[in-house]
Amino acid sequence: MTHRTPLIAGNWKLHKGPQETTTFAAELLPKLSNLEGVDVLVFPPAISLQAACDAFRSTVVQVGCQWTSAHTRGAYTGTNSAEMAREVGCSWALAGHSEVRRDLNGTDERINHSLSTAFGSGLLGMLAIGESLEERNAGQLEAVLTTQLTKGLAGLTPDQIVSGAIAYEPLWAIGTGVTATPEQAQAAHHFIRGFLAQHYPPYVAEQTRILYGGSVKPTNAKELLAHPDVDGALIGGAALNADSFATIAHIAQG
Ligand code: PGA
Repeated sequence: MTHRTPLIAGNWKLHKGPQETTTFAAELLPKLSNLEGVDVLVFPPAISLQAACDAFRSTVVQVGCQWTSAHTRGAYTGTNSAEMAREVGCSWALAGHSEVRRDLNGTDERINHSLSTAFGSGLLGMLAIGESLEERNAGQLEAVLTTQLTKGLAGLTPDQIVSGAIAYEPLWAIGTGVTATPEQAQAAHHFIRGFLAQHYPPYVAEQTRILYGGSVKPTNAKELLAHPDVDGALIGGAALNADSFATIAHIAQG
């Protein structure tokens, strides 16, 4: 079986300004000093990216931008460009988080353009997808994931997809304390990997990391990460605390 290095990512959402970012980095880094074989990534708010990139430079922690424009520059007030995020020191860009889909008009098309611009600017893109509770209850899980994957990944090369990641985050599990059961997560991840196998050369399904997100905590991370198609986690609330984030990273180490 192909080895996929686990990826533990923290989505800080609208938490931690530059000062708190610096303090947090100083607290987190010693807790990761003996971590091996796990990739660690944080997505701070844009205004704290410089502080994060400074604090985490040459460390095990990579930094990404939570949402980057499809445009490189221009008259687009209130957005951030992937190229500028890279200049600051970011290596990743997240696209398609459900809060962006909900609050920032993140349609599948805009998410796809954001991703291709991010890759084109030298960042690695992470595509977040997931169904609502109504969609799941209506038996639409696979149809929703298929649409989000088809549109979100459109035009990306197999190599780009493999270098980035996909995050499966069921909406009903985000910030609710209700985690998908490990079996539900595994089933969705298995479906996503099957989609990749169907549409791309075999190495894409074998090597692309699929992260689970939605109320991941130190208490449930082990069970989730134990499943063969769960290659890491995208963590909101529990990533804001250095102890719990580091603990999950160590759990991923096995
Ligand atoms: P949560 O958030 O861990 O607080 O549920 C996950 C996310 O939104 O990425």
